[in-house]
Amino acid sequence: MNQHVTLDKIVALCKRKGFVFPAADIYGGINGIYDFGHLGSLMKDNLKNLWKKSVQNDRGEIYFIDGSLIGPQAMWHASGHIENFHDPMIDCMNCKKRFRTDDDNIDINKPCPACGIQKWTDIRDFNLMFQTQLGALADDASKAYLRPETAQTIFVQFKNIMSTNRAKLPFGIAQIGKAFRNEITPKQFLFRMREFEQMEMEWFCKAENSMNQFDYWLQKRKEFYQAIGINMNKIRMYEHPQEKLSHYSKKTVDFEYEFPFGFKELEGVAHRTNFDLSQHSKHSGKDLAVFDQATNTSEIPTVIETSVGVERLFLTLLFDAYCEDEMDGDTRVVLKLHPHIAPIKAAVFPLIKKLSEPAEKLYQQLKATFTHIDFDEKGSIGKRYRRQDEIGTPVCITYDFESLENNTVTVRDRDTGTQDRIAIDNVEQYIADKIQ
Ligand code: GAP
Repeated sequence: MNQHVTLDKIVALCKRKGFVFPAADIYGGINGIYDFGHLGSLMKDNLKNLWKKSVQNDRGEIYFIDGSLIGPQAMWHASGHIENFHDPMIDCMNCKKRFRTDDDNIDINKPCPACGIQKWTDIRDFNLMFQTQLGALADDASKAYLRPETAQTIFVQFKNIMSTNRAKLPFGIAQIGKAFRNEITPKQFLFRMREFEQMEMEWFCKAENSMNQFDYWLQKRKEFYQAIGINMNKIRMYEHPQEKLSHYSKKTVDFEYEFPFGFKELEGVAHRTNFDLSQHSKHSGKDLAVFDQATNTSEIPTVIETSVGVERLFLTLLFDAYCEDEMDGDTRVVLKLHPHIAPIKAAVFPLIKKLSEPAEKLYQQLKATFTHIDFDEKGSIGKRYRRQDEIGTPVCITYDFESLENNTVTVRDRDTGTQDRIAIDNVEQYIADKIQ
């Protein structure tokens, strides 16, 4: 089934159904930046809520923050982003196209893939942070940067969060928010963007049992992917070799998903040692160590991080859910999304327009409970089913002539197409059971 899915089909479906649009579409779009439409923003909210639940655990508290997007220069010096957060780039002197040298398609010993001429510049480092300036004076002191990861706002607020919540190690600080990277070559739609959201959790613990905590979080993240219905045969774990670890990491394992363009990183779980807190402590002059009364010692906590992009996960789920199959003699496109992820939970149809009034009454009732319910009275029932299948609606409810006689409706399952007749009084429970 899923061999039918391609990046082009997902991009087209997203635009056609209103999940995702190119940003500033009427001006021709912006490379690597997207807006999410009604269905897209509902689906994103579902993902974020599920993620927030998934970081709850039995080892310690999780505190949430909503940090600022702009950080001062000093903060990014301390974190190492000004010195280390760059990609190697190269330009073709003939067609002026710019590439990452670590791109799979680029071999500097071969001609440019865009124009076929071999005339490369030297390789240079390109810092991926967006720089801006605070206030009217364009001097060095006013330089600031949009955050390239949400994590640093967590680290710099670590002491405030700890003291205001009277937190005890181990505990986590979690955040969902925007991150910005001036990617040299944004590509594969939502896979590599310039403006995106991250869901990050920084777990603060003692160094002595941090490897055990690392394994715990790796397992927890695996359970999350199982729970949201991802085909686990398409997930693999990739441990970064020592020589490729980020400047802050002692161990990193990625969850990779098998996209049509190969296995690629979906989420990273990293043992960040106490690098970040030590750096911020050194550069800010503030003591970020935690005192342990039991042992009468102080320690700068070690951090285990879990980090996934909202849009990258969104794209993964669309690839994973997309199917083309035969139903009622037709080829249909269906998104077999987990009901918790599906943006619309059910749709109500009157069989014909004449039945709209009682059908709409049922729709209003269901909407009061489930909020995101559709009502559709246009076109044949078959077409209406197809429209809902394409956006992943788990249940369709048809109000027909029999409904008038005996207060029953038909309910249709998205994945199998099977239909049952049930009492209208039981519809609410039927939907609740399907989407729980
Ligand atoms: N705080 C650690 C960190 O930012 P990362 O591997 O650079 O690590 C974490 O990013 C996650 O953020 C990735 O696994 C991916 O899901 C998402 N991500 C990173 N860059 C992205 C981009 N340009 N577009 C979309 N998502 C991105």
